[in-house]
Amino acid sequence: MLRDPFGRTIDYLRVSVTDRCDLRCVYCMPPEGIPLKPISDILTYDELIRTVRVAVSLGVRKVRITGGEPLVRRGIVPFVRRVAEIPGVRDLGMTTNGTALPGMAAALRAAGLRRVNISLDTIRRDRYAEITRRDALPKVLEGIGAALRAGLSPVKINVVLLHGLLRNEVDDFFAMAREAPVEVRFIERMPIGCSPSEGYVSTEGVRERILALPGVREARNGSSSAAVTFEVPGFAGKLGIVSPVSRKFCSGCNRLRVTADGRLRGCLFGRETLDLRGVLRGGRGDGAVADLFLEAARTKPRGHDLCEDGDAPSAAEPMSRVGG
Ligand code: 5AD
Ligand code: SF4
Repeated sequence: MLRDPFGRTIDYLRVSVTDRCDLRCVYCMPPEGIPLKPISDILTYDELIRTVRVAVSLGVRKVRITGGEPLVRRGIVPFVRRVAEIPGVRDLGMTTNGTALPGMAAALRAAGLRRVNISLDTIRRDRYAEITRRDALPKVLEGIGAALRAGLSPVKINVVLLHGLLRNEVDDFFAMAREAPVEVRFIERMPIGCSPSEGYVSTEGVRERILALPGVREARNGSSSAAVTFEVPGFAGKLGIVSPVSRKFCSGCNRLRVTADGRLRGCLFGRETLDLRGVLRGGRGDGAVADLFLEAARTKPRGHDLCEDGDAPSAAEPMSRVGG
């Protein structure tokens, strides 16, 4: 079992399979995109499978595939199948922007994907085009339907809180959770990528709006869960808030991350990464890979220092490379 010096058990690996994305969310990327890593720097599927196998041998049970946008990488469905077939992987999820789900949700489910988190910051088409710089809202809405029909469960909708949402759109998202069996989660924007640390919107306002819903109650979540979840009578789905800035959840953090270019990361923030790609390509055995995981657990930071009016932490890299 992987444990860190602060008593946290690490059983969750987030794997970014690409730094590419078909959207250009304003808080993530400039309009022209960010410099991409050369393909030769991106881990191959074989290297990723080896990585997951080793992680599972050390006690990892839960795997999430992220990007960039994971569905833009060719061969992603067979890769999902290979991960799902690794004995010991109990829970396989993906974080996606959903634009490719209409054509892929069923195949992903058949390949062994269980759950999916879909990024959607607005359900107004013009706002969506402004935020992501692409007119893709109809595809994403269709993708949510496709994910539900395919039996992916749970389907979570990640809403990064941007200015104006509370005033204009929170009811639209509540309606979505009322009508469809999805968990809509409002997330504080973190100072990563193109996001300045100032001017973020705390979840506090949404929390108050949620707590005002008749009969609402807070659901129990595992201690490592980043979200606080709410159940509302008459809702097919749920609501949730994720507050990495205003109420950090580092003490329950159970995860390590593999970046698209093959570095092992203990935390989204901070500079510390380990050269997994070098080890994978260095001709050494799985023991060397396992040692790197032990090192990552040993050096996993206790937490980040984001706070509402503090300075941004040192040089976190773009979300599209680290995976959200
Ligand atoms: N803060 C919070 N969430 C972010 N995401 C991307 N950048 C940020 C940020 N600065 C989200 C995306 C997606 C997930 C991968 O991470 O919207 O839901
Ligand atoms: Fe793409 Fe996600 Fe970044 Fe948006 S936030 S540009 S969907 S990687």
